Amino acid sequence: MNNQKPPYHELESKMEEAEKLIHALRTQQVDAIVGERHIMLVRLKQAEENLKSSRNQLRALASYLLSARENERAVIARELHDEFGQGLTSLQLGLSWISRKLTPGQQPLQKKIKSLSATTTNLMRSVKNIASELRPGVLNELGLVKTLKSEAREFEGHTGIRCRFKTNTAKAKFDRSAAVAIFRIVQAALTNIARHAHASRAHIALTKRKNGVTLTVTDNGKGISRKLVYGHDSLGITGMRERALALGGTFTLGGSGSSKGTILTVQIPLSRVIIGPASSRSRNTPQF
Ligand SMILES: Nc1ncnc2c1ncn2[C@@H]1O[C@H](COP(=O)(O)OP(=O)(O)O)[C@@H](O)[C@H]1O
Ligand SMILES: [Mg+2]
Repeated sequence: MNNQKPPYHELESKMEEAEKLIHALRTQQVDAIVGERHIMLVRLKQAEENLKSSRNQLRALASYLLSARENERAVIARELHDEFGQGLTSLQLGLSWISRKLTPGQQPLQKKIKSLSATTTNLMRSVKNIASELRPGVLNELGLVKTLKSEAREFEGHTGIRCRFKTNTAKAKFDRSAAVAIFRIVQAALTNIARHAHASRAHIALTKRKNGVTLTVTDNGKGISRKLVYGHDSLGITGMRERALALGGTFTLGGSGSSKGTILTVQIPLSRVIIGPASSRSRNTPQF
């Protein structure tokens, strides 16, 4: 066995070689890590872009579906009004014609006709109510502000929950789709208050500001959790949010600060609501 130690310079050159090897390995590892990180970043960016574009597509689809639903409702309302409304009117006329032909001795028949006539009147009222629920024709007649005022009054009458409406836009003219969206959001919010809030008071405010219109619907009920606001099952809330976003607006729903209850806030840019004298706008734009 050779117990002689290798000369010093040989050891030194071996050490140098080993150091170079270690350095090369390190550089390779770092390069690999940097490369991988770059690939991951590119993939992440791509995924983000895909997500953004599908979100935009979904938003466009939701907006299309909302307006398609509004159009469908208008068609059904018209059919209801024309077909059923006219049919029931002629039924009513027929009944009163028969009633006039009856002799005083035909009391049982007279009684029957009276009850049929009352049923027909009720049906006519129901058809009218369903048609106006489907198509907010009152918006055309009264305009948004008066419609909301009467909605608040009716809500108070039906539910016993005190409901006030306040606005600084009494004379404003609203674009049709903005008016329909605001009206539908208020309807859905009031229905939720009646169904879920256990409130004794509700408050609606429509306020014109410098850059937009703010709608708030407040109640003093039990309040709402974040989980419900963003829940997959909360289709009513999702519908309200989509209506606001379709108008380029924002939507928030949550606790109403220090007091208990819920506050819904929708903000829509002024340009999408069209407010002001009719003369400053296109003559073809329907206003409400
Ligand atoms: N004003 C409110 N106060 C308390 N809870 C509410 C209020 N509005 C909505 N919620 C809660 O949020 C849930 C989702 O509402 P929504 O999406 O309109 O669906 P739905 O009314 O069909 O249940 C309701 O079931 C209710 O629990
Ligand atoms: Mg609801």
